[in-house]
Amino acid sequence: MVATQDRIVVQPRLTIQTADIAPNTTTIRSLDWDRDRFDIEFGLQNGTTYNSYLIRGEKVALVDTSHAKFEALYFEALTGLIDPTTIDYLVISHTEPDHSGLVAKFLAIAPQVTVVGAKVALQFLDELIHQPYEKMAVKSGSTLDLGGGHQLEFINAPNLHWPDTIFTYDHGTRILYTCDAFGMHYCSDATFDEDLAAIEADYRFYYECLMAPNARSVLGALKRMEALPGCDTIAVGHGPILRHNVTELTGRYRTWSETKTKAETLVAVFYSSDYGYSDRLAQAIAHGITKTSVAVEMMDLNAADPQEVNELVGRSAALIIGTPAQDNGPAIAAISTILSAAKTKQRIGVFESFGGNDEPSYPLQNKFIDLGLKEAFKVIRVTDRPTEALYQLCDEAGTDLGQALTVKETVKQMKSLDQDLDKALGRLSGGLYIITARKGNLSSAMLASWVAQASFEPLGVSIAVAKDRAIESLMQVGDRFVLNILEEGNYSHLMRHFLKRFAPGQDRFEGINTQPAQNGSPILTDALAYLECQVMSRMDAGDHWIVYSSIDTGRVSKENGMTAVHHRKVGNHY
Ligand code: FEO
Repeated sequence: MVATQDRIVVQPRLTIQTADIAPNTTTIRSLDWDRDRFDIEFGLQNGTTYNSYLIRGEKVALVDTSHAKFEALYFEALTGLIDPTTIDYLVISHTEPDHSGLVAKFLAIAPQVTVVGAKVALQFLDELIHQPYEKMAVKSGSTLDLGGGHQLEFINAPNLHWPDTIFTYDHGTRILYTCDAFGMHYCSDATFDEDLAAIEADYRFYYECLMAPNARSVLGALKRMEALPGCDTIAVGHGPILRHNVTELTGRYRTWSETKTKAETLVAVFYSSDYGYSDRLAQAIAHGITKTSVAVEMMDLNAADPQEVNELVGRSAALIIGTPAQDNGPAIAAISTILSAAKTKQRIGVFESFGGNDEPSYPLQNKFIDLGLKEAFKVIRVTDRPTEALYQLCDEAGTDLGQALTVKETVKQMKSLDQDLDKALGRLSGGLYIITARKGNLSSAMLASWVAQASFEPLGVSIAVAKDRAIESLMQVGDRFVLNILEEGNYSHLMRHFLKRFAPGQDRFEGINTQPAQNGSPILTDALAYLECQVMSRMDAGDHWIVYSSIDTGRVSKENGMTAVHHRKVGNHY
């Protein structure tokens, strides 16, 4: 911590770890202990890391670099390991700045290097670094022999999570370098994944945020991985390297992605990579959609093949488009293809990218409306650098769209229970509660009934939260919230208010009396009692998360008040 005259500045902790992970293979891990937000993953609790790898055969390759904030630390570590002018290749898994932020600086000290990447990645890199360099475009099946047994093979892994992503497999060490895929935002001194219990919540959360909207691409990459002779280690770009749980953790990606792609209804999300905030806003919308039973496929307008656009539009129930730059010829051409393939029964949603030269959003949406498409959500205006509240609005707009697209299916499912079973299940009773949460400038609330005390030591409670609830984003492991317990005979106004349909991003507490709890979340003044809780773990239960939370403190407002009870006649809905 550094004290200045009028304020205290907390220095973020940045450290470097180097470790040999296989013969002639060293990782340089940039440990960003305090990073508390990463694109849309506003739940980030445990910092992150940016992992780079040095492979020394007769030739030497560096796989990815680091984030620009690590410039001094990273180059100090690298030059401690090797003279950069003796490195032959720089493999870039993709061009996102958290891994490629030091490429230009690296090429300045190692101009002899040949940059190896997907064709699209090299095109992106040309625009990023504006300087000549040696390059080698690779795709699935391309190989590069470093000598000394280190035969590298490349695998296309588009959309994991940028369109230009490649994986690199070293036949000599059976290490697969995957960068974002199979990673997690988790910072610790552990180089490897030996403590599965410590990392699995972050692994899942990262998948839900970054990979679930690309579930089909995940399955494609897993299929290509099956053709490899065997994979002992997955050298990820974020978090601990996978070595102890490779089968288990890749298996989870497969299971989750198969579930996501089984959905019958699909939404296409088109964005413009590396333009304004297009990709991050697209991810937030896609994340919201995947909370429902609707699948998402994301496509980069900059690298979209007309045939693939046609095919995707043909399969989609809704089309979401982020405004590209007006002078981006390929993206504008892709939008013309979308327009000619669009069908009247589809919905259209447009969001702005805030790139400085956006194609105007309303005229773009109107072209689709004129064709007979229905509005998926109101145009998402972006008039300033996006805040967490705007990402939340995007997330909620996506969830609302997913729910609207599946409303018939949901009603059908509700009616499908056997009548006797339905009535019997309906005899399970619960209380009536409102969960409230605030995190930074984000807040949310949810009416709940499936709540039960779950343990004495520690004091704990379990709550079932439907996966498509907005508050779910604020109930990640480590998050704090308040469980408000409603009073019999004095809850109808609260129930009416919180059962209302809120517009994306709308303040849930307007007109409601609240006071802040010690943990910062709102206590409803009219509730009978409240408990302050912290999420300890989450269990996947089909369409719900079972959220187990410890209880820190609590209070009753009326000694003789009785808890409101929720009696149901049938068990096929709340
Ligand atoms: Fe970790 Fe896609 O950058």
